[in-house]
Amino acid sequence: MDLKVPPFAVILIPLLLSHIWTGGDAAHSPSPSPKPAPAARGTAPPVARGPAPPVARGGRSTLDPRQLTALQSIGLSTTRDPCALPSPHDNATACDNAAPFRHLVSLRLANCSPDVDLSSTALSALSTLRSLSLLHCPIPAPRRLPTPFASSLRSFSCVSSLRRLTGVWLSRLVNLTDLAVVDVPISTSSPAVVLSQMHHLRSLTISRANLSGGLPHHWHNVDLVHLDLSSNTLKGPIPSSISVLGYLETLNLSSNGLAGTLPDSIGDLVFLKNASFSQNSLSGPIPTSISQLSNLTHLDLSSNQFNGSIPRFLSEMKELKFLNLENNNFQGVIPFNTTSIKKLEVLKVRGNSDLCYNHTLLSSKMKLGIAPCDKYGLPVSPPPDKSSKSDSDYSDDDGEDDDNGDAKKRSGGHHGPSKLVLGVAIGLSCLVFLVIFLICLSRVCG
Ligand SMILES: *[C@@H]1O[C@H](CO)[C@@H](O)[C@H](O)[C@H]1NC(C)=O
Ligand SMILES: *[C@@H]1O[C@H](CO)[C@@H](O)[C@H](O)[C@H]1NC(C)=O
Ligand SMILES: *[C@@H]1O[C@H](CO)[C@@H](O)[C@H](O)[C@H]1NC(C)=O
Ligand SMILES: *[C@@H]1O[C@H](CO)[C@@H](O)[C@H](O)[C@H]1NC(C)=O
Ligand SMILES: *[C@@H]1O[C@H](CO)[C@@H](O)[C@H](O)[C@H]1NC(C)=O
Ligand SMILES: *[C@@H]1O[C@H](CO)[C@@H](O)[C@H](O)[C@H]1NC(C)=O
Ligand SMILES: *[C@@H]1O[C@H](CO)[C@@H](O)[C@H](O)[C@H]1NC(C)=O
Ligand SMILES: *[C@@H]1O[C@H](CO)[C@@H](O)[C@H](O)[C@H]1NC(C)=O
Ligand SMILES: *[C@@H]1O[C@H](CO)[C@@H](O)[C@H](O)[C@H]1NC(C)=O
Repeated sequence: MDLKVPPFAVILIPLLLSHIWTGGDAAHSPSPSPKPAPAARGTAPPVARGPAPPVARGGRSTLDPRQLTALQSIGLSTTRDPCALPSPHDNATACDNAAPFRHLVSLRLANCSPDVDLSSTALSALSTLRSLSLLHCPIPAPRRLPTPFASSLRSFSCVSSLRRLTGVWLSRLVNLTDLAVVDVPISTSSPAVVLSQMHHLRSLTISRANLSGGLPHHWHNVDLVHLDLSSNTLKGPIPSSISVLGYLETLNLSSNGLAGTLPDSIGDLVFLKNASFSQNSLSGPIPTSISQLSNLTHLDLSSNQFNGSIPRFLSEMKELKFLNLENNNFQGVIPFNTTSIKKLEVLKVRGNSDLCYNHTLLSSKMKLGIAPCDKYGLPVSPPPDKSSKSDSDYSDDDGEDDDNGDAKKRSGGHHGPSKLVLGVAIGLSCLVFLVIFLICLSRVCG
């Protein structure tokens, strides 16, 4: 029996097939997608992957045998030469080029199993390490840090690893230039315990580490460029001696219990780009010296008790892009007009009940979350509080056309149409399979 394809199918089938091949994948159709590849199955062998490359150079590791043993004792797989590139998986190693044996200079352990054992003995054999990085390795910290290892290390990063640390333990890493401890509790009486012997630090992050005590009055780390002590339990004032950190570009002291005023000496940190003091108990005015920070792009003073008026120089700072002053006790007229506010990408001022804007200079469409001023510079009425948090933050994205933006949100974006396309795609796929099945069936029967 001859296979008779009805004329409409001649047109429909290629159309449907092309639809599936282009659109079926994107629609995540649950049916097996009929890619034009199946013909190759069985004829072409799978891509040859070969056995794992043997340990380099005639089956022997190029790594110092003592260090190879140390890596094995830690629990690291050494079936591949740790000095061969690329490093296996998550666990990265790097070696120097010494002869006859190379030495480990960098080690990164990630997502360790609990039986990994970072012993003091292993570390003594690894005293050539410059960089040690631990990510999600909640194993116990080695009790003792062998001196040669401790003093050769330049970079130490410990994120959600080693369960808990002490300030004294960390302070033994005297030659560090980079130290990052995140999500690991550190017990110590003050950051000074950790820092006072580290004279070469350039980058310091100790965050979400339950770090307690006050900020140091004497800093021994004048090369610091990046200082992040956010999300700890630091107390007391910001000492004016912080200005000795003359190369600072990032200063993040957010989410602590710091109190007192911002010292005037902050204006000496002329390289400062990003500064956050948010979520502390800081008070008093914004110091005038901040106007000297010509590279400042990001200033966050939110959720403190700062008061006084918002100084005009903030609207004249050339690099400033992000300014968050919300949830403080600022008062008076904000010093921005339509031109100067546009230079900022983000301005947040809500949560300051005595703050207002000049309605001849700024439109209410900005949705700043504060009231307009009367002629005395006082808010005319309590700020409209119906708008959601994001609505009341001024930002470039939703600045001008609020009506337009709201309309977009209400229409539900492109979810509706994409669901429709998915449904049609699935429906058409089923139809095509039915047609193909029928054709095959008619062939078999004929
Ligand atoms: C990395 O090494 C640790 C032990 O050092 C091991 O538990 C973990 O499974 C390794 N991860 C990968 C992806 O190889
Ligand atoms: C610290 O590093 C310097 C080079 O930056 C080196 O000369 C010195 O020996 C190191 N100190 C220790 C105790 O290893
Ligand atoms: C955090 O530090 C305080 C003392 O400052 C201590 O009582 C508390 O147990 C510590 N919390 C953790 C999780 O280590
Ligand atoms: C600002 O930054 C530029 C480049 O990022 C730098 O050359 C300049 O010295 C900085 N100015 C100040 C006052 O720090
Ligand atoms: C400061 O740290 C907090 C929390 O770690 C983070 O969310 C924020 O982005 C940081 N800000 C700056 C300016 O680095
Ligand atoms: C510094 O601030 C800018 C502008 O807000 C931001 O894009 C950048 O990620 C921040 N950098 C750091 C290190 O916090
Ligand atoms: C700011 O608050 C302090 C008390 O914290 C107060 O002495 C001072 O007068 C206030 N300044 C202004 C301008 O309200
Ligand atoms: C807007 O404010 C800026 C900065 O304060 C100022 O230089 C400029 O003259 C003001 N423009 C108008 C139109 O008021
Ligand atoms: C608002 O701005 C106009 C025009 O610059 C000015 O005349 C007026 O005094 C300002 N009002 C307040 C309350 O500052």
